Amino acid sequence: MCGIVGYIGTQAATEILLSGLEKLEYRGYDSAGIATIWEEEIHCVRAKGKLHNLRSKLEHLQTPATIGIGHTRWATHGKPEEYNAHPHMDTAMRVAVVQNGIIENYRELREQLKASGHQFRSDTDTEVIPHLIAQLLKEEIAREPNNTDFHFLEAVRKAVNELQGAFAIAVICADYPDELIVVRQQAPLVVGFGQGEFFCASDTPAIISHTRAVLPLENSEMARLTPLGIEIYNFAGQRLKKHPRLLSLNPMMVEKQGFKHFMLKEIYEQPGVVRACLEAYFNTDWNAASANNNSPINLGLPAELYADLEQIQIVACGTSWHAALVGKYLLEQVAQIPTQVQYASEFRYAPSPLTPNTLTIGVTQSGETADTLAALAMEKERRQGKEPKYHARLLGITNRPESTLGHMVPHIINTLAGIEIGVAATKTFIAQLMSFYALALDLAYRRQTVSSDTLEDILKGLQHIPKEIEATLESQEHLTEQLAHDFAETTDFIFVGRGINFPIALEGALKLKEISYIHAEGYPAGEMKHGPIALLDAKVPVVAIAMPGSVYEKVISNAQEAKARDSRLIGVTPVKDGEAAEIFKDLIPVSAVDELLSPIVTVIPLQLLAYHIAARRGLDVDQPRNLAKSVTVE
Ligand code: F6R
Repeated sequence: MCGIVGYIGTQAATEILLSGLEKLEYRGYDSAGIATIWEEEIHCVRAKGKLHNLRSKLEHLQTPATIGIGHTRWATHGKPEEYNAHPHMDTAMRVAVVQNGIIENYRELREQLKASGHQFRSDTDTEVIPHLIAQLLKEEIAREPNNTDFHFLEAVRKAVNELQGAFAIAVICADYPDELIVVRQQAPLVVGFGQGEFFCASDTPAIISHTRAVLPLENSEMARLTPLGIEIYNFAGQRLKKHPRLLSLNPMMVEKQGFKHFMLKEIYEQPGVVRACLEAYFNTDWNAASANNNSPINLGLPAELYADLEQIQIVACGTSWHAALVGKYLLEQVAQIPTQVQYASEFRYAPSPLTPNTLTIGVTQSGETADTLAALAMEKERRQGKEPKYHARLLGITNRPESTLGHMVPHIINTLAGIEIGVAATKTFIAQLMSFYALALDLAYRRQTVSSDTLEDILKGLQHIPKEIEATLESQEHLTEQLAHDFAETTDFIFVGRGINFPIALEGALKLKEISYIHAEGYPAGEMKHGPIALLDAKVPVVAIAMPGSVYEKVISNAQEAKARDSRLIGVTPVKDGEAAEIFKDLIPVSAVDELLSPIVTVIPLQLLAYHIAARRGLDVDQPRNLAKSVTVE
């Protein structure tokens, strides 16, 4: 949610800032802006809408500046207009700030600052920061006139101590043209180390093409970056010693590599993601593992996380919540552990009563979702000081182990999906599913809730999944593109599934609505007759996921009920004859994999269908309106 970048060094700052913002546009794209310093003035250029609008404005502006900050916005306080775009400046236009997050006490601060003569130009919470820094800077200079080295740093430090909320900021001041100050408080911020230059950004893709040596700041830390070096402090002003680490992220991961959109590229990366999980966590030599009494799964989690486990609760949002629902099915049906799935935003204000020996799992692709992090923090806090069986056991599932989640929980399953740029989650969802298969099978093995033959069959089935996804992608790309042609003007869609494929119906509907803006709902097929069936007529197509197994016949009967209301039925099924052939006007064939593994396959055509419908409607598939990849506000 909002992306910030900063640069200080010897190169021209503008292009570095713009190319960094391009890599962060997935975080928000309501407006963008940069501020640079040259000839002792701040030069701030901002534009409403996507980054290309800012680029056009800057086209004829050659600037020699070698220091600057930039921002791409997802509007929280104030409309997405140019006057609300960052950077924001103080009244005298000497201090410029970009912020990601929310300043909760901005109203009081704004009133106080206004009363002291500061003039505000925007409706944002952020604007209080440059005014506050400017005021404190004046006071600092008056208090310690000779301590010139620390005036700006001290003013920023004192200002952030007055701010409440979750934020990351980057600040420059025209009177200190060799200093870029960055601060992190509950919102991500990473510093990149170059040769006589420093970069900073909300996320690593913005700096990976310049350097792999990075230092993610921790909460309540700030850094002063100058061409000569970096100094890190805590909010009390104590100097800290920290060292950068080398990123493994490959710059190619953040390029489209010939695909029209990141989303399509990421859909095609899914077989590779599943293979990576299989190689990392699943022992292919099942006989050797069982002969040595070893679990066939190696997640590297400590035994105490599993000891006497009675309950699992999972907190997540959006697509990650759908992955958690599949996880619940696996943990309950395979590992026999009662499992609850909660929306993180609900759980944090209405948690279930405390249960003993409970594992709490937070699932998040960004590792930065404010609600998920807050739900986990709340869970940790409310279990503190209780008797041992109530102690918090926290586990994170994410593809960004370096994220805030990674710092917050003691144990992580790295889903190995790598970074995802398309705002609609695809490969990170599949990877989350794989983590749940690994976790459920590990627990099933340890608790002996399935026979070793069954376990072996599931593990063997999983080994074939990458090939099945490849086959699905190959056979369905064209088919879904053709179907998209028929549905480009449709206004409502229903997705149904049952059992382990009910969450996939939800996910199919979410993918379609978020990128095509078509109204879509997912239901458990058996629930249709309890209300939603009233929506059906010839104009409302129904996508039914009908995988052979325990609920196949039931789904087919539910589909019949929809057909009787004139709906056009689209079947996602490997069955091409019998009743399926009769009722489905369109068949999207998928491989006949075991029902238990089927979500990893059935979701693929739904992703493709959503993608092609949105592309056909000429929409911005990778950056759908009103959305952002990391939702770092409540
Ligand atoms: C949908 C989507 C969102 C996210 C949700 C949670 O395609 O991407 O629904 O799943 O915002 O985000 P994370 O997983 O980062 O916590």
